Amino acid sequence: MVSSLKKGAVTASAPAKVILFGEHFVVYGEPAIALAIDKRAYAHAQLRKDKRVYINSADMHVSGTFMGERFQAAKGGSKARAKLEPVKSAIQQVLEKAQKKVGVNVQINSDIPVSAGLGSSAAVATSTIVAVSQLLGMELPRNQIFRMAYESERLVHGTPSGIDPAISTYGGSLQFQRGKDFVPLNVQANIPLVIGNTRVERSTGDLVANVRRIREHYSSIIDPIIKAGGKIAVDAVEALRQNDLRTVGDLMNINHALLCAVGVSHEALERLVYAARKGGALGAKLTGGGGGGCMIALPEEKKLKQVMKAIERAGGTAFMARKTDVGAQVES
Ligand code: MEV
Repeated sequence: MVSSLKKGAVTASAPAKVILFGEHFVVYGEPAIALAIDKRAYAHAQLRKDKRVYINSADMHVSGTFMGERFQAAKGGSKARAKLEPVKSAIQQVLEKAQKKVGVNVQINSDIPVSAGLGSSAAVATSTIVAVSQLLGMELPRNQIFRMAYESERLVHGTPSGIDPAISTYGGSLQFQRGKDFVPLNVQANIPLVIGNTRVERSTGDLVANVRRIREHYSSIIDPIIKAGGKIAVDAVEALRQNDLRTVGDLMNINHALLCAVGVSHEALERLVYAARKGGALGAKLTGGGGGGCMIALPEEKKLKQVMKAIERAGGTAFMARKTDVGAQVES
């Protein structure tokens, strides 16, 4: 391992993601399909003269300093610590790996809407791990970056499947199944996806916990739903390979219905999903944790603008998602 302190400052970035199929069900071991998109989180890391860790997140509107076990908020008051703890965990893991007792300043800036189901927290953790490790002269292999980001994600919600840190680390598109190797998918670069944001913020951790509760109560009903979610993802891989967008759209609609059944939709999501379908989308579903946040729609190329307008008329903000193959990387 290289461990000299070689640079005064490093900026790294990592992409957001959309889950095309299988969110929530993936927590229970079913396959899911995710795509890295061209919105990124940026972490700028600098060495300090003391051993403190200062983090400033422009998008979460929080900042503060960790001094050993103590924390002093500079912005964001009593909520600052909990919001910054996953980033601190990411930094701490790198410092431990480097066996360096140094302090760092980390500035986070991000294009990714926060608490919206697009994997913002995983992208922040991943970019931070790359920035701080490079700052300390370490070239971490991707599987290690993923493992560290996964550990940090455990503080965001206790039982993450790992899909968010995986796609942020590796980029591209992949079939993900807990405990198995990721399968890179050859999803067409120009698959025409529109993202609609309800702007209803929510916590992935709470939603994952709600699904767990409902499953514990009604396991004989919920388990077959989870299995069906997995089967949808498997069939979708084939449809995507064949560029059969009609089937992909149908499967998205069915997947959305299953997510409603386990209680993770929201009236604002329903409005955008139905508006997109009426506007000409072949399929539409919530993406990520649900409960608000974002939905995705798959329109035919010629109906892209129409679908975006329909989502906006229904009260959402809409943008086109472009797949990116660029995973976590050093910017400068
Ligand atoms: C969150 O983006 C996706 C969930 O399936 C949680 C997870 O997989 O860790 C809801």
